[in-house]
Amino acid sequence: MRFILFVGASNTLAESEIETQIKGAILIQPNIYLFESEDSQSAKSLAAKLGCSIKLAQELQGVASTSQSIADLVKSKNFSVTVLGGFKESSRMNQEIKELLQKGRFILPKDQFGLTPVLLSKHKIDEFFVDEEADEVWQTIWSHDFEHWIKKDRRMPYANAKAGILPPKIARSMISLVPLEPAGKLLVDPFCGSGRVLIEAAELGYTIGGADILAEQVKETKANLDFLGFEARLEVLDATHLSDKFSRVDAIVTEPFLGKPNLRPDQIRYLVPGLQKLYLGCLKNWVEVLKPGGYIVIVFPTFDDGKHIYKTSSVIDGKLELSYNLLKRDILYSRPNADVRREIVVLQKK
Ligand SMILES: C[S@@+](CC[C@H](N)C(=O)[O-])C[C@H]1O[C@@H](n2cnc3c(N)ncnc32)[C@H](O)[C@@H]1O
Repeated sequence: MRFILFVGASNTLAESEIETQIKGAILIQPNIYLFESEDSQSAKSLAAKLGCSIKLAQELQGVASTSQSIADLVKSKNFSVTVLGGFKESSRMNQEIKELLQKGRFILPKDQFGLTPVLLSKHKIDEFFVDEEADEVWQTIWSHDFEHWIKKDRRMPYANAKAGILPPKIARSMISLVPLEPAGKLLVDPFCGSGRVLIEAAELGYTIGGADILAEQVKETKANLDFLGFEARLEVLDATHLSDKFSRVDAIVTEPFLGKPNLRPDQIRYLVPGLQKLYLGCLKNWVEVLKPGGYIVIVFPTFDDGKHIYKTSSVIDGKLELSYNLLKRDILYSRPNADVRREIVVLQKK
């Protein structure tokens, strides 16, 4: 069976997440991927695991892309048709179907993405996507649980935007870069902050462990995990000494300390060597923490002082190649208006 997946962000993180988690997926339009799956249940579970996924539609095999065949499929009072690759045609097609049905109500899509998950959850709507040229019809079968994502983003006991908290969907996408089945696997975040990475890992079914140099942060992580009913082994620890408390770890996924916020340009060149020393110290120590074949997904900040670009990921060049294979780099992600750009790197212990 064939499915199309609508993803929330057209950045290289979403691309890498899809590449790792959905074998053979093809980008057919900006933010829309085509893939095959045995049945709709497996396709839905796959979509629900990802950070970037917004909506999933299934191909209706043998259904012609005409207004009449779609009208025959409408069961709810409301329907909506989006014409893929010819968006402007959507209005005409919705009108035609309404005339054929002589009842019901259509909701016009605003763009190629069709209706929002909020709208779909509030009203019973049969939503279709049509490709007239390829004579294909797709029906929406799943959309992301936006209420749950909002709760994790804004309604946790500790959800302080000032602290530079990682958005939950980004944390989820980072974890998806680890090509492992989570059950029975231990995932650790050595810079756990308020626990965003750990929450997403727990939801996916990983056993989780975390550390932070500040007891206060560990307390926040614990409160956030308790709130959602998850347990973790948590330690107050310098990440460069992770091996004092953790071993036989399957994956480390982390957004480390990225430097103090709101730096002046003249402070950047003094900050960068300190950060690089910290990251190098961590990567050396984590060789002892990980199982052979274990993974690291880590954010490296890139700074620009107007004269020079400082890419802290350069610490992995050369020095660590005896210990790690470099699987992916240059996966870019930044928060809107952020002055620090983030590069995500995936390493595998040899
Ligand atoms: C960028 S924040 C992590 C945010 C986290 N991903 C979240 O969303 O809540 C970095 C964290 O690293 C901690 N930290 C700084 N230096 C550290 C070190 N040497 N070892 C362990 N943790 C450290 C800070 O206390 C802070 O909580």
